[in-house]
Amino acid sequence: MNLLENIKDHILPKHIAIIMDGNGRWAKQQGLMRVIGHESGAKSVRQVIEGCGELGIENLTLYAFSTENWKRPKLEVQTLMKLLVSSLRKEIKSLQDNNIKLNAIGNLSLLPKKVHKELQDVIEQTKNNKKLTLTLALSYGSREEITNTVKEISIKVKNNIISPDKIDELIINEHLYTSELPDVDLLIRTSGEQRISNFLLWQIAYAELYFTSVLWPDFTKEHLYEAIKEYQKRERRFGKTSEQLN
Ligand code: IPE
Ligand code: IPE
Ligand code: MG
Repeated sequence: MNLLENIKDHILPKHIAIIMDGNGRWAKQQGLMRVIGHESGAKSVRQVIEGCGELGIENLTLYAFSTENWKRPKLEVQTLMKLLVSSLRKEIKSLQDNNIKLNAIGNLSLLPKKVHKELQDVIEQTKNNKKLTLTLALSYGSREEITNTVKEISIKVKNNIISPDKIDELIINEHLYTSELPDVDLLIRTSGEQRISNFLLWQIAYAELYFTSVLWPDFTKEHLYEAIKEYQKRERRFGKTSEQLN
């Protein structure tokens, strides 16, 4: 509780994004199948959602499946997709009770029909919720997103809807999957890997990066608080000098 009060006394990130990594290694460590690691990761998802809710964080974006993850063994992909459907079904009540709006980013048309439908259902049912926007990055790749954005803007230029000299950062933002979201303030990656893996390249331009060796299934609310506390110690200068900030 004390830890929570302490965090609330300082500026909170408006948008936290997490690369939930290490499920496979977690399972392997205990001699279990990789898919058990993915199943166990679901409870960490619940932990971070709860933690964000308690602090009043407005946006949480979770990297659940990348465009590159389609290259994994078929059985693993199938299990991940099944897990997604069952988790969405299980969590809908909790999303409603906690005023959480579900959102999804990525090339969703590539998802199996059943997953796509379940996802759209939950998005529709929670669309008026206000406290926290929970965005799942699914079949998401930042380069795919940017390519898609370039295509959409090009079509508008071709049809004289946008003039090329009017293209600015704002217009690019409006055409990204994340158009409704603010920039990422804090990016967390678990499992000890220190890379971005094609996640939100544009949106993390000025995010604070936080890497932890904790594997995703072991990640708890307390780990989230630790990351936020570390974030609160950083001085975000956005190119200015320290003196200018005061
Ligand atoms: C993250 O865990 C979950 C997904 C990428 C879907 P991994 O499955 O990548 O786990 P490791 O990195 O192999 O341990
Ligand atoms: C990134 O993790 C994608 C997700 C967490 C969904 P990966 O495990 O796929 O990333 P790499 O391959 O180690 O970079
Ligand atoms: Mg991984």
